[in-house]
Amino acid sequence: MTYKRYTITAALPYANGPVHIGHLAGCYLPADIYTRYLRSKGADVKYICGSDEHGVPITIKAKKEGITPQQVVDKYNKIMGDSFKEFGISFDIYSRTSSPTHHNTASEFFKTLYDKGVFKEEITEQYFDEKANQFLADRYIIGTCPKCGNENAYGDQCEKCGTSLSPTELINPRSTLSGEKPVLKKTKNWFLPLDTMQPDIEKYIDSHKDWKPNVYGQCKSWLNAGLQPRAMTRDLDWGVKVPIPDAEGKVLYVWFDAPIGYISATKDLTPDWEKYWKDKETKLVHFIGKDNIVFHCIIFPAMLMAEGSFILPENVPANEFLNLEGDKISTSRNWAVWLHEYLLEFKDKQDVLRYTLCANAPETKDNDFTWKDFQAKNNNELVAILGNFVNRTLVLTHKYYEGKVPDAAEYTKADVLLLDEISKYPAKIAASIEQYRFREALGELMNLARLGNKYLADNEPWNLVKTDAKRVQTIMNISLQISANLSVLMEPFLPFTAKKLSTMLNLNEGLKWNDATRTNLLLSGHQIGTASLLFEKVEDETIAAQVQKLEDSKKQNALDNVAAVEPAKAETSFDDFSKMDIRTGTILEAERVLKTDKLLKLLIDTGIDKRTVVSGIAGSYKPEEIIGQQVCILVNLAPRKIKGIESRGMILMAENNKGELSFVAPTRPDMNNGGAVK
Ligand code: MF3
Ligand code: ZN
Repeated sequence: MTYKRYTITAALPYANGPVHIGHLAGCYLPADIYTRYLRSKGADVKYICGSDEHGVPITIKAKKEGITPQQVVDKYNKIMGDSFKEFGISFDIYSRTSSPTHHNTASEFFKTLYDKGVFKEEITEQYFDEKANQFLADRYIIGTCPKCGNENAYGDQCEKCGTSLSPTELINPRSTLSGEKPVLKKTKNWFLPLDTMQPDIEKYIDSHKDWKPNVYGQCKSWLNAGLQPRAMTRDLDWGVKVPIPDAEGKVLYVWFDAPIGYISATKDLTPDWEKYWKDKETKLVHFIGKDNIVFHCIIFPAMLMAEGSFILPENVPANEFLNLEGDKISTSRNWAVWLHEYLLEFKDKQDVLRYTLCANAPETKDNDFTWKDFQAKNNNELVAILGNFVNRTLVLTHKYYEGKVPDAAEYTKADVLLLDEISKYPAKIAASIEQYRFREALGELMNLARLGNKYLADNEPWNLVKTDAKRVQTIMNISLQISANLSVLMEPFLPFTAKKLSTMLNLNEGLKWNDATRTNLLLSGHQIGTASLLFEKVEDETIAAQVQKLEDSKKQNALDNVAAVEPAKAETSFDDFSKMDIRTGTILEAERVLKTDKLLKLLIDTGIDKRTVVSGIAGSYKPEEIIGQQVCILVNLAPRKIKGIESRGMILMAENNKGELSFVAPTRPDMNNGGAVK
């Protein structure tokens, strides 16, 4: 199917912090490359984005900074929008979900579904903080994880063991607002009946087996598990008010309103918005990160289907995650490369970052950004291949012909083959882009530069110029044509460099993608402009400084973590301490407790006897590696049944701030079992 126009979206980022390289690599850069390519093809395309300004992350940030949610989003909407612009992310609009257009659009959308009787009204029990007088979003409740015992698990997830939870599963729940124990209180909400919609959604997903395997696979696993009704309203005060009677104090679920933000942003962009959302000949593509898959592939399409007048996403090319120097990017740990900071330190080098992030894009698996690799990509690829080829060509043209494009007097057989090969590059690169393989596409672009470099190296015009001036004219003409084609084809990836090169070549503005199938973009006699370097080497010191900056942030984190250790317990007496009978012992046997992630069943020689102890250490130790390990064990702890096994005693463990456990054990090798620990 060919399309008349394209609506391209990139996930609306939460307006609660500046933009880092993970954001850029995840969706804004690939979507930008795709859109720029389509524009160069002459397509009618709109690239839509804006900030996601509702939801709990915003209110949490506001609380932390002691300002209002509105102040938070005003601040970050601006910072984020500026960063995107500076990196050449060419949105047709960067809007925001706190805008009146959006509130109206989202309200109307909800109202339409409501009037059609789509929602199921349901009364459920939700945690309520009586002191703060409000219902608690999942993130506002912490308690003990039923799986691993972490005392600070959130109402939606335990960050220690990764289990997703619902607030009522937490043991000893407490409100982060007041510290009080929340109470369950009845509340009415409106649910999207994904369960009854499953057959339609299934049909839709099944018609898109062409989606990336990670995307299609995730959808299938949701479907296989069976979709559940999901509440589209929340008891919160920050968001789009639920536009029906009897919904005081409720707002739309942020994942209901945010994707509608794509539609409202298009409205803000053009009065002609409907054709970008309702015409079957429009191709709708959502670029996102992998944590957004279910919302864009299942929930939003379900909403659109229920509404009835909209087209559905044709593709949802989701990327995996980008790590930084081997570690997960984290705003709270300041483990990130922030775009606004990068720009201060690498002035005018936006394209180097764009290049590195695209060449390393986490398209099929999580990937790692390292400063060493950044340097290597710049020095060995951008400088040594692309920059070098263009620079040699332009400098020689000035030297031999005063900057006038020489006539291609006569082509050799090899020239003819080369010209033919060059003319195929637009199609080659396009094929990769159209399949959302941007790394591959960029690789092809560089191959064209490599071809140029090889051509110069093989033909050595700088030597030949003394003996065969005519031949050199042809060689330089061809090299100039390659440079011109490169400037057209690099534009989606390296827009700043493309501009610079096209100015240097004094190229016609408005050259399009398909013009690069020709090999005569520069006419003989055409005067080119002054040559300057496209890229500069990045020195070791520069990279060392960046690595140092990250290390400093690691150190700072370690300090912060020290401050964050558990508070001291109340004083105890020596008598109380002496009541505990702790002995040295040795692990004789160890095996996993079936159907648990964390538990090992241990047989311990305590010197007094041999006994069974169930211990929650499977996350830190494998059974086979601890046989023979000496330990300290509290032997007079009252026996407890754990998973049907009687556990007699407790092994002493130390825990680090990542939740990893270590045995607390004698450090001398000659300690017998049964020795008293005092
Ligand atoms: N704000 C969400 C996130 O950062 C993405 C929202 S995408 C939208 O994960 F479709 F809902 F807008
Ligand atoms: Zn847990």
